[in-house]
Amino acid sequence: MTILVTGGAGFIGSNFVLDWLAGSGEWVVNVDKLTYAGNLQNLSSLAGDERHVFVRGDIADSDLIARLLAEHQPRAVVNFAAESHVDRSIHGPEDFIQTNIVGTFRLLEAVRAYWSGLANHGREAFRFLHVSTDEVYGSLAADAPAFTESNRYKPNSPYSASKAASDHLVRAYHHTYGLPVLTTNCSNNYGPFHFPEKLIPLVIHNALAGKALPIYGDGQQIRDWLYVKDHCSAIRRVLEAGAVGATYNVGGWNEQANLDVVRLVCELLDELNPRHEGTSYASQIVYVADRPGHDHRYAIDAGKIERELGWRPQETFASGIRKTVQWYLGNQEWVANVTSGAYRDWIVQQYAS
Ligand code: NAD
Ligand code: DAU
Repeated sequence: MTILVTGGAGFIGSNFVLDWLAGSGEWVVNVDKLTYAGNLQNLSSLAGDERHVFVRGDIADSDLIARLLAEHQPRAVVNFAAESHVDRSIHGPEDFIQTNIVGTFRLLEAVRAYWSGLANHGREAFRFLHVSTDEVYGSLAADAPAFTESNRYKPNSPYSASKAASDHLVRAYHHTYGLPVLTTNCSNNYGPFHFPEKLIPLVIHNALAGKALPIYGDGQQIRDWLYVKDHCSAIRRVLEAGAVGATYNVGGWNEQANLDVVRLVCELLDELNPRHEGTSYASQIVYVADRPGHDHRYAIDAGKIERELGWRPQETFASGIRKTVQWYLGNQEWVANVTSGAYRDWIVQQYAS
């Protein structure tokens, strides 16, 4: 058996592929465009493992996707591929429209054609799992209940609007064509291989480099943090037992204000890698201009996936953030390759021909 994963060289996708192959004999065909966010070094431990078939390609390339589906006959497609960084979507929305909307549309079309041609059992067993975000629900007031699956979509950034559009397309392909889809809407992830443009890895990297730790606005915005391995286990569980056509919210029951997160990271660094001066890394915190249209609060009610599928996160924030800081301290070469751009040189070399 085989599954096809898109975006499997990114942060969550690479964690998913590694965990999948550690726990299953099933092959993974991994299609990734290797944008700036795709890093094959995340998957270097799989070198020589024939169960991992990497293909550099775009989900919007209909011919490529059709060929891969025909060749590998996957029993499921898990779609991680996306432009994922909110700040980049504010500076340049076009790529987000192209990959998150047009790309998802083309992928759905190719998958629909493949699925329609499967024999009965294959058709029934097939699943298309779309990995999405809690940001599609918009921003919560301080005292509002956490997002449930029935909250209205109210996306506020070009990123979340493009993800919302992709969710709607996935829903429509089920409703109209009967494609057996599943959608997960997850909160903020953190953990190994997180690209250091996002808050937690950026703060760890800047702290160690003696640079400013930029807090947007007053730092009181709230996110619901989930350790990435828990997100991966939720996706596996939904793929295994989710009701066709259903959406599942995935979250950590863990709301934290940004400033508290940054202070906690500083405390852990003070303990594990003290500054030479003896003062706290927190002294590097600097308040900067706020993100335009900054959503104030996200919080996920992950009750449905717990009631229906028995999934709950295994990691607490205290244990997950400690593991994460330790991972970054132990993988400074990975960080250096990303921040210097050396990982891109490797891609150029690898794909020159
Ligand atoms: P990421 O930016 O780290 O990785 C995205 C990957 O997709 C990269 O490897 C990139 O090369 C690839 N990609 C981009 N465009 C592509 C295209 N057109 N064709 C093929 N591959 C392409 O993102 P991430 O944080 O790992 O997020 C993965 C998915 O999970 C996204 O769909 C995102 O919306 C969703 N999500 C992320 C979070 C989070 O906190 N990071 C939370 C909830 C949901
Ligand atoms: O909620 C899920 C989403 O979480 C995913 O869908 C996105 O793909 C993912 O990038 C993430 O989006 P956020 O915008 O919440 O993540 P980011 O790490 O960029 O920012 C987290 C919070 O920290 C946010 O309130 C903005 C703030 N921030 C971020 C950066 C990069 C800062 O205060 N300073 C910073 O330098």
